[in-house]
Amino acid sequence: MLNRRTFLFATVTVTLTAQTPKPLILILMGPPGGGKGTQAEKITAEFGIPSVSTGDLLRAEVKSGSALGVQIQAVMQKGDLVSDDIVNRLIADRLSRPDARKGLILDGYPRDVAQAGYLDGLLNERNLPQPLVINLDVAEEEILKRLGQRGRKDDAPETVRSRLGVYARDTKPVLDYYGPSRVRKVDGLGAPEEVYSRVREAIRLAR
Ligand code: AP5
Repeated sequence: MLNRRTFLFATVTVTLTAQTPKPLILILMGPPGGGKGTQAEKITAEFGIPSVSTGDLLRAEVKSGSALGVQIQAVMQKGDLVSDDIVNRLIADRLSRPDARKGLILDGYPRDVAQAGYLDGLLNERNLPQPLVINLDVAEEEILKRLGQRGRKDDAPETVRSRLGVYARDTKPVLDYYGPSRVRKVDGLGAPEEVYSRVREAIRLAR
């Protein structure tokens, strides 16, 4: 028979467990210009989970003018992938920060199957749950229109072509790596708010 103290302890434990949601590890995938960064901001604003964009971290390194930044810049300008070692290290560091215990939105990572394998190891090591993958589905015609209007250094037409090729060759296989149990395809066409209502619903249904 449970005594009163044990009963109270069990009740408090059950209540706390019910109130503390599992950390959410969310991967935003989709082609260049698919709206990953735009949607990441909205998810952070509503769910209070920080987001990290490997593209932004790499651009910051380039801006710093370091020797590593100079090497990275040459790769990004061609639309190629920066080496797995560099980006894996950036993500390992980011996951070590205390705010990542609530979860993390990964924008632009993992970008190939080797990075996905590395991330699995990191999540296991840190006792974090397996990720949910939101795959923003946007047609190539719309991507060319969006990036043509933006004007970032790597948005020149030949670089965008190369980024799209790298996406098809290296990044799309990551969707197969995770498989249908973890991937939710979301229509990325329409106004950002419209897309976000689909993203929010996909997260809600998966949790
Ligand atoms: P990264 O910065 O990740 O670029 P990307 O994946 O090509 O994506 P973008 O930032 O262009 O687009 P997005 O999907 O975030 O869309 P956004 O919301 O910005 O990577 C750049 C480079 O860094 C890579 O090529 C590689 O070299 C390197 N790199 C990065 N991560 C790496 C990794 N893990 N491994 C190795 N190398 C890595 O929107 C785009 C535009 O569309 C904006 O102007 C926006 O306002 C507009 N827009 C957004 N949503 C909508 C909408 N619904 N309707 C109309 N317009 C919209």
